[in-house]
Amino acid sequence: MSKVLRKEEFRRDKKIKAALFGATGAVGQVFMWMLHDHPWFELTRVVASESREGKDYGSEVHWILPQEIPEEILSLEIASFNIEEMREQGIQIVFSALPNHIAEKIEPQLIEAGFAVFSNASHYRYSEHVPILIPEANMDQLNWIEKQGYPEKGFIITNANCSTTGLAVAMAPLRKFGIKDVIVSTYQSVSGAGHPGLSALDITGNVVPFIGGEEEKMRKEFKKILSVDVDIHPFCVRVPVMFGHLETVWVEFEQDVELGDIIKAWAECSSGVDHLPSTPAKPIIYEDQNDLPQIKMAFYGDPEGMVVYTGRLKRQGNRIGFSLLVNNVVKGAAGGSIQNAEAFVAKYIDK
Ligand SMILES: NC(=O)c1ccc[n+]([C@@H]2O[C@H](COP(=O)([O-])OP(=O)(O)OC[C@H]3O[C@@H](n4cnc5c(N)ncnc54)[C@H](OP(=O)(O)O)[C@@H]3O)[C@@H](O)[C@H]2O)c1
Repeated sequence: MSKVLRKEEFRRDKKIKAALFGATGAVGQVFMWMLHDHPWFELTRVVASESREGKDYGSEVHWILPQEIPEEILSLEIASFNIEEMREQGIQIVFSALPNHIAEKIEPQLIEAGFAVFSNASHYRYSEHVPILIPEANMDQLNWIEKQGYPEKGFIITNANCSTTGLAVAMAPLRKFGIKDVIVSTYQSVSGAGHPGLSALDITGNVVPFIGGEEEKMRKEFKKILSVDVDIHPFCVRVPVMFGHLETVWVEFEQDVELGDIIKAWAECSSGVDHLPSTPAKPIIYEDQNDLPQIKMAFYGDPEGMVVYTGRLKRQGNRIGFSLLVNNVVKGAAGGSIQNAEAFVAKYIDK
């Protein structure tokens, strides 16, 4: 068993050592970009598939992000999945950007070995006592790790499917109005399918009105994250853009809500934890210009890609409609996972 990361062993003058699994994929690259100079975490080991072991990250990765690849990560050696070596290196946190079918084999071993695991894969999302954590929506679920056995044992915290993340962030501050019913249509970028993902021949100049499993994930995860028993009606569509998922939403509330109440609730939204390095001062920004938000804003905000933008707010009959934009690989994946690890550290390690 590794030394589980606990308050007693924490040294403020040292960063917490972290490993990343799935470092070369679409989500893995965002982890690399966000973790290479993180103030709390030190990326100590990067893992990809076996064929890349021993090779330099820079020569193996096909970098797809709009940001320059950080110099410091070019010569990092891609390592193997080896729990003993991870222990010797003093690693305590593991970020997982593994495909689901690989995650379901590797992640249980990491938890068993005593690591704090923050995963993007869906395998554990629906398990009892495993939070699908989004600090803006359900910080109260962070303490479920105690039901998993923390601080004696390792644990896992998942983050939501990318389109669900955007919807849950935008709807969390509106929960107080009593959500009756949600209809959502998504316009999802190709990076959501990972790398290499879709064939250019299939998506260039095209729109595909089906994303396998996505609508089911939205329905399940939304309820668990917001602890609401509300059915949502999604249509998920793939569009030929690189980053960012746009969504249009129609919601019916139990209460009679003014549009101004909604704008106010979004403006007052917070992560529930102060001073997390990856949390924007304003996690939701409402754009009142009627052609915003647009996909090209996916990397806007501070930190880049962590803000959920809303817009097009309107009323029709008893429904309220709006649009939203979430960066699927940052807030909807790696950035969300890093923010969850920060929330864990803030609550349990160094309050
Ligand atoms: N893309 C998104 O917008 C998004 C959003 C939310 C959640 N997610 C979830 O996040 C996870 C990663 O998604 P992705 O889009 O980044 O996928 P991806 O582009 O296919 O990347 C998968 C990564 O896993 C590595 N890998 C594959 N088999 C492995 C093995 N046996 N051992 C160790 N590493 C292995 C790959 O390494 P090689 O390069 O060596 O093959 C690659 O680094 C998935 O579970 C996905 O569902 C994705």
